[in-house]
Amino acid sequence: MIDHTPLDLALIGGTGVYAFPGLEGIERRELATRWGTPSSPVATGMVAGKRVAFLARHGEHHTIAPHRINYRANLAALHELGARRVLGINAVGGIRGDMAPRALAVPDQLIDYTCGRASSFCDAEGEPVLHVEFGDPYSASLRRALLAAAKRAGVAVIDGGCYGATQGPRLETRAEIARMRRDGCDMVGMTGMPEAALARELDIEYACIAVIANWAAGCGPQPEAPISLEEIHAHLAAATEQVPAIVRALLAA
Ligand code: HPA
Repeated sequence: MIDHTPLDLALIGGTGVYAFPGLEGIERRELATRWGTPSSPVATGMVAGKRVAFLARHGEHHTIAPHRINYRANLAALHELGARRVLGINAVGGIRGDMAPRALAVPDQLIDYTCGRASSFCDAEGEPVLHVEFGDPYSASLRRALLAAAKRAGVAVIDGGCYGATQGPRLETRAEIARMRRDGCDMVGMTGMPEAALARELDIEYACIAVIANWAAGCGPQPEAPISLEEIHAHLAAATEQVPAIVRALLAA
């Protein structure tokens, strides 16, 4: 039986974030949706006296590649649980000069370079087609609340930036990143879309905390060493450590 008490916030954890520290009284829910099974059971519990859900985007053991994630099932499950605000935590590579490894950013724009992903709930003949407004892909009010929370928590966060969503799971070529920079991308990740668009279709307020794990190809100090996975994980661990304080400040407001 699903508890329909509204959630104050749902979190979708990306690479390096498979649980939410400080989530109390956890109940694990194995959900099935019309769109299939979410990436992981959804953990619901309390943070700062508020009801919160957490879902691991790549699965609890990071076994689901970005292009294989069932984004529709993930968003539908959180929506069914009563989520009206969703915060995606997404590892990215930094393109812009200030998007250095270990920094955090709250993007305000995105460009979608993914292909072949199930990217809409409008997928059955005979059902209404939604052309949702998406000029500003992230919720302005959730972004504002998040930035204010980061300030209260004393965590430095870059306000704004354009997230380029690539197909993965491979990293990009230097030429691809050079093109993305020309396009106006400030950071690159593999999971920002279709998550943001699906949230909009469900009328969920959605924002992203981008955790910068590495310089994108060709963007680091030159001559550049190949991107090492160990380094990525060390940067990610250091940066994601700061996220719970922001979330607690957001919920305590
Ligand atoms: N490219 C794409 N996705 C990523 C990167 C990157 O360099 N780093 C972390 N996620």
